[in-house]
Amino acid sequence: MLRGSFELIGDKSISHRAIMFSSISKGRNKISNFLMGQDCLSTISCFRKMGVDIQIDNGDVFVKGNGLYGLKKPQDILDVGNSGTTIRLIMGILAGNNFEATLIGDESIAKRPMKRVTNPLQLMGCRIEGNEDANYTPIKINGGNLKPIDYKMSVSSAQVKSALILASLYGNGMSTIEEKVKSRNHTEIMLKSFGADINVDGLKININPVDELYSQNIYVPGDISSAAFIIVGALITKGSEVVIKNVGLNETRTGILDVVKAMNGYIEVLNKRLVGGEVVGDLLVRYSPNLYATTIDKSIMPRLIDEIPAIAILATQAEGTTTIKDAKELKVKESNRIKAVVDNLRLMGAYIEELEDGMVIRGKSTLRGANIQTFKDHRIAMAFSIADLISDGNVKLDNKECVDISFPGYFELLKNLQL
Ligand code: S3P
Repeated sequence: MLRGSFELIGDKSISHRAIMFSSISKGRNKISNFLMGQDCLSTISCFRKMGVDIQIDNGDVFVKGNGLYGLKKPQDILDVGNSGTTIRLIMGILAGNNFEATLIGDESIAKRPMKRVTNPLQLMGCRIEGNEDANYTPIKINGGNLKPIDYKMSVSSAQVKSALILASLYGNGMSTIEEKVKSRNHTEIMLKSFGADINVDGLKININPVDELYSQNIYVPGDISSAAFIIVGALITKGSEVVIKNVGLNETRTGILDVVKAMNGYIEVLNKRLVGGEVVGDLLVRYSPNLYATTIDKSIMPRLIDEIPAIAILATQAEGTTTIKDAKELKVKESNRIKAVVDNLRLMGAYIEELEDGMVIRGKSTLRGANIQTFKDHRIAMAFSIADLISDGNVKLDNKECVDISFPGYFELLKNLQL
């Protein structure tokens, strides 16, 4: 069982944005509760290569911003490692800057589609080259002299939206970006606090260029996507009671709370408060023996896209048939998460069927130990470490280090919570 309380580490999405927006602001920025995960460190490394002074001191990050037009041409290739957020958002910034830069990443990044960003940036007048018609790394960008854009997004993606908002800061007129379903809005919230001229009207976002962004002190709330594994662990292991403190509860991210409630899981939000424009609270989660199945579709998908591997484990312990659909995007995350979840859960004895755009899971089932292929995907590794809590026999992960991408210290924390 899991018992205890802990302070949640910083949010990955917000940590990336804090470094990026600070780097292109004017003045000194301080970032507290920054996530020192590999992905966010990749973002720091890219901006240092563009001449930004970024210091880490006692867990805080200090960024001396270069101003909106002050980044330097990097002397070296920008390596984003495993980070999709870094490469997609940075393209929006590079598109507005008058120099050439080349972006690469690891073998997972090499398989992830970039056209969703490079295509609209080309429409804004940016010159971009890359493999297969600017769809894959290496990507070479020659930015500057951007036109505004009026763009209806065809994929639901906060990364694409954010890249276009960032490029729009450099356009020579008002840009409008329209989403199909609202995705995480940390970019809109944080850029506004930096002084950007952004107006959100339902699913439409209007951005007017500004001369400068102005430095901020940023407090990064805890990452609900990281909390998801502990939440599921507590819900499914007998006798558990866990308090997770300082969880970011921005409603574009809290789909998992709605799903847990719909499945009859016990989760309570305590101490709800507003910190730097983001809602934060503590979560009390208890073992819930009477879980039942649910359906998850496009109306909620962007609010829990990263939590599907954890939710799939939860569904194996719920009575009835859980259907997860409209989740095609999972195929182009750090790994093909539909296949990774379905194949590994089947190995563990779950009743699970793969769909073109999701999966169907029939519960409750007793899980058995297995050798799990993580595909070096941090969220697959953490999801199956939770399955291990209830399995007969051990779960062996082929790679544990990959959790450092988003949750350094994860296994120690899990061990400390275990009684
Ligand atoms: C992120 C957006 C999501 C998410 C990723 C982080 C962000 O990706 O899966 O982990 O920080 O904007 P998409 O926007 O591509 O869905």
